[in-house]
Amino acid sequence: MSQRVLLATFRDEGELLGAVRAVRSRGAAVVDVYSPYAVHGLDDALGWRPSRLTWACGLCGAAGALFMLWYQFWTSAVDWPLNVGGKPFNSLPAFVPVIFEAMVLCGAVGTVLAFFLIARLRPGKRASLIRPRVTDDRFALVIEQTDAAFDVQQISSLLESHHAEQIEERVLDGGPRPGPDDPEAWPALRWVNLGLAVLFVAAVAAILLTPRDLTRPNLEFLPTMRRSVPVEPQSAFAGLPLAQPLPGTLARDARPLHFQATVEDEQRAGEELSNPLAADDAAALERGRVVFVNFCISCHGPAGEGDGPMSARGYPPPPPLTAEKSRLLNDGAMFHVISLGRNNMPPHRNQLSQDDRWRAVLHIRELQRRAVQQAEQNDAARAAGEEEATGKDPPDASGP
Ligand code: HEC
Repeated sequence: MSQRVLLATFRDEGELLGAVRAVRSRGAAVVDVYSPYAVHGLDDALGWRPSRLTWACGLCGAAGALFMLWYQFWTSAVDWPLNVGGKPFNSLPAFVPVIFEAMVLCGAVGTVLAFFLIARLRPGKRASLIRPRVTDDRFALVIEQTDAAFDVQQISSLLESHHAEQIEERVLDGGPRPGPDDPEAWPALRWVNLGLAVLFVAAVAAILLTPRDLTRPNLEFLPTMRRSVPVEPQSAFAGLPLAQPLPGTLARDARPLHFQATVEDEQRAGEELSNPLAADDAAALERGRVVFVNFCISCHGPAGEGDGPMSARGYPPPPPLTAEKSRLLNDGAMFHVISLGRNNMPPHRNQLSQDDRWRAVLHIRELQRRAVQQAEQNDAARAAGEEEATGKDPPDASGP
């Protein structure tokens, strides 16, 4: 579709703005304005709607944020839940920083891509400039010659009064093209682009082909950040009597245990130690439950059946704590296992106070009691079911 237009070139953005306003107030239709940079107030002067690119930005940002929310939930609560000091797997506050970063990243990159798409820009596209210098230091105003009543003379003098540098009539067919007297815009750019692409490929190839020795550390920038230089300890107070406990004394509330992580000592602990807490101490039981949930179910499972997430993923599963063997284990021996570990059971004396370890023992006893109760109920139900299936007439159903 061809379009007769009047093409005016300006040197100054202020004059361009004035011309746009004057031309529109005369009722002439402005097709477009070409400028080397975004001119403030031009959208208003042209009477254009605000750009819809903000919508693309908002949508991409929201998509990125939602994806990251789902992805973090999936990784940390569904696919690979790790118990970190009993914190909840699905923890929104911990997800916020990554969600925010993903939102900004997707919003920014999505906006640039949407802009390229709308402007139909792609690598290798030939620039077709309406005037050769509109990407440099000139502004071009394109006015449509709507009908025969369009007064070229009048509009031209109006444009001249706004210091238009050059005014010409042109026929546009399907978008702006360089005029016959415009030199082809920057044909050398194609070679620059090609050169950059070759450089990029060469750099990637060089990185991939350079032999690497993964056993040796890389070049380290500021190595003291990673490997601190040890210095002499402060010695001002060394040797003063107050700095060290007097030999043969104990700190208040200290309850030293004289056991090693051996089978014999586990046996001895079973004989010598007993739980200082009562089995019906509700507060201790509740705390024991919390300790067990936070520190133990990752391996032992919520009911102590040895079916925690760690075992499900290949860690040697512990035997069920509700089995007869564990039920017969003395409180003291259990305390010893929890404190100093046994085989694949890691020691917990550094994570848990002595009292919390005793409370965990209470909770295990509670789990065992419940399991026994459940087994008895199941047995009774099964016996009743069998009776119903085999007995021809139940004892009390029909009269004599
Ligand atoms: C990293 C996994 C893991 C964690 C965490 C863990 N356990 Fe264990 N636990 C084991 C394994 C494996 C065994 C079996 C050890 C063996 O006898 O070979 C075991 C054994 C035990 C036993 C001895 C059972 C018996 O009948 O011999 C007790 C009691 C026990 N755990 C209590 C706890 C308590 C309480 C916690 C939390 C404070 C805890 N465990 C945390 C893996 C774990």
